[in-house]
Amino acid sequence: MKSTLNILSFEKITSTNDEAKKLLQKTKLPDFTVIFTKQQSKGRGQRENIWYSEPNKNLLFSIIAYPKNLKAKNQFYLSKVISLGIVNYLNSKTEGFKIKWPNDIYFREKKICGVLIENSVSAYDIKNSIIGIGLNINQKKFPDYLPQADSLINITSEVYNLEKELNAILKHILISYKNLKPENFYKIDKEYFSKLYKINELSEFRDKNGNFSGIIKGTLPEGKLIIETSNSGIRYYDFKEIEFINRTS
Ligand code: BTN
Repeated sequence: MKSTLNILSFEKITSTNDEAKKLLQKTKLPDFTVIFTKQQSKGRGQRENIWYSEPNKNLLFSIIAYPKNLKAKNQFYLSKVISLGIVNYLNSKTEGFKIKWPNDIYFREKKICGVLIENSVSAYDIKNSIIGIGLNINQKKFPDYLPQADSLINITSEVYNLEKELNAILKHILISYKNLKPENFYKIDKEYFSKLYKINELSEFRDKNGNFSGIIKGTLPEGKLIIETSNSGIRYYDFKEIEFINRTS
């Protein structure tokens, strides 16, 4: 791809999300500026977790975006278009990647990519968004405490050139990001639900009251997960209120 993208590469940094934040405090960067590294000393994940990545093996990057015409109440649509871009890129390598709500990317029962979106919201609008993506590419082994982690190399048995893959994934994400307009919300939902992990399948979950089985039916516009249960009807969950129980882990 002929790149017109603004990519700022760093040898080693604490976290591409933190670097993006620092840069934004100093200056306004163009929409879709990418902060890229192959090594983070303090990579951050969801739920205050550390994002572990072996140096020089994986893609670690953050996209700075100013989603125009996106109201704060619709911010989950940004998460949807980003995960769709990632999953479309991965499915171009081999079919079978799914989005595990809200925006993890899975192949079968294993996670190969995590997304940490940090929005800065003013009144009703999104001022800017830092979209951090960690995608496991060439790393073959993961620590025992990450039994669900996997990588592209383990799935396809190919070794990848990280710069080339960065350009390829960005191309897919940008195409998907350009769909982010209210008139496309219906289409985005349809595609997101079609790629949602375990949709319409009986699955096991855990909430503050314990374990239960239910069926994912979709998400609400603000992002809550909709689960149908056999004895207590439909339930709606925010991100921190529910966990999937993976029988293989
Ligand atoms: C998750 O927990 O699933 C989200 C992980 C996000 C990791 C990426 S790596 C690049 C960017 N910089 C960070 O510190 N975190 C994100």
